[in-house]
Amino acid sequence: MRITIVIAAILVVTCAGQVDVPARCCLPKIWEGRMATVQTGPQGQGFTTTTMRMSYDFSIKKFALQEMNMRFRVVADFSKMIQYVITPDGKCTTSKLPTDMMACIPDNATFVETVVYGGPGGMVLDKWAVKVPDPPVDAVVTVTRDGCVFANEAITGTISGAPYFQAIEFSNITYAITDPTVFNVPSPPCPTDSNGNMLTGKTSFFMGL
Ligand SMILES: *[C@@H]1O[C@H](CO)[C@@H](O)[C@H](O)[C@H]1NC(C)=O
Ligand SMILES: *[C@@H]1O[C@H](CO)[C@@H](O)[C@H](O)[C@H]1NC(C)=O
Repeated sequence: MRITIVIAAILVVTCAGQVDVPARCCLPKIWEGRMATVQTGPQGQGFTTTTMRMSYDFSIKKFALQEMNMRFRVVADFSKMIQYVITPDGKCTTSKLPTDMMACIPDNATFVETVVYGGPGGMVLDKWAVKVPDPPVDAVVTVTRDGCVFANEAITGTISGAPYFQAIEFSNITYAITDPTVFNVPSPPCPTDSNGNMLTGKTSFFMGL
């Protein structure tokens, strides 16, 4: 009996010492998919949900979001560090992108854990934690082990003195841009938005939103 207990204790210590940290992978360079978000509302009151179509193209350093009910679309141009919010009635505003477009899990991300979604034979995913200095939020980014596909992101923190939470889920990913006009922005250039990018909410760390 005593021997069994000692062996069990050694096994536990050995296992605890072996954290299998995966490689810092890079997202596919071009992809499209459904992006569903839930986030705290203005001034931390209530929640808002949005469903968008994400078109991500790192080769031109741009992404575009189209709200499913066509209420607005967003184009982020990281070569100019400008984000455009465009509504169907022709209104357009720009704001400065706070962080560069993230293509890979950054060096300063901390590995959290590996999980499997679903049952046996399910999908293996790796979670990484990132501290964003401004605004001061914590992001946990989850990517698939196979192919480094962005699966979800959870953001918590305090923005303008109010508690902030955002959950983002990506699904139905494909590796092509079906309609390149999603990256078009109006001409002449649209004015700067003094309120920042309130329409889409403040943050996806990974997307630089
Ligand atoms: C992590 O790295 C990114 C990109 O290099 C940088 O913008 C960010 O400030 C860094 N975060 C911290 C907490 O150092
Ligand atoms: C996501 O993919 C499923 C399965 O192919 C399909 O039935 C569904 O309509 C897709 N949803 C969207 C929003 O594209």
